Amino acid sequence: MERTFIMLKPDAVQRGLVGEIISHFEKKGLKLAGMKLIQVNRTLAEAHYAEHQGKGFFEPTVMYIMSSPVVAMVWQGKNVVVLARELMGATNPANANPGSIRGKYGMDISRNIIHGSDSVTSAEREISLYFKSEELIDYPKAGDEWLSE
Ligand code: TYD
Ligand code: MG
Repeated sequence: MERTFIMLKPDAVQRGLVGEIISHFEKKGLKLAGMKLIQVNRTLAEAHYAEHQGKGFFEPTVMYIMSSPVVAMVWQGKNVVVLARELMGATNPANANPGSIRGKYGMDISRNIIHGSDSVTSAEREISLYFKSEELIDYPKAGDEWLSE
């Protein structure tokens, strides 16, 4: 089953949006495979945004995810990488669909509440940055049989 890496950024934690955002994923029918509250250090922050090294927003974005704890999660489900990106909405909350998480809760690209992997390859890389394999759990969940055939 496909997995993706989702991070609730410092603004989501500070603004008390953690439970509400997790509900979007739960209610969609996705399955939580791992979750922890962590303080991201510089090594991890730079590795997370390695693809953006050299761009103007790299350093502010690294500083931002180090600024306060984040909730790191792995969600599992059919086509979850694309699905999670759709639930999140566009990178800039100002342009995000108003029904999406960024569209509902954000206003500015530099405080966009949530991170989600952009491909299955990125998901594998990001999951391994934040989680050991023994921290991820695959389990039968009540209701699975009501979500697909
Ligand atoms: P990016 O990977 O392009 O977006 P996404 O988070 O949707 O995958 O960019 C990573 C983060 O960098 C983005 O969530 C917010 C920040 N950022 C800016 O602050 N300014 C920008 O112009 C861009 C493109 C990103
Ligand atoms: Mg990205």
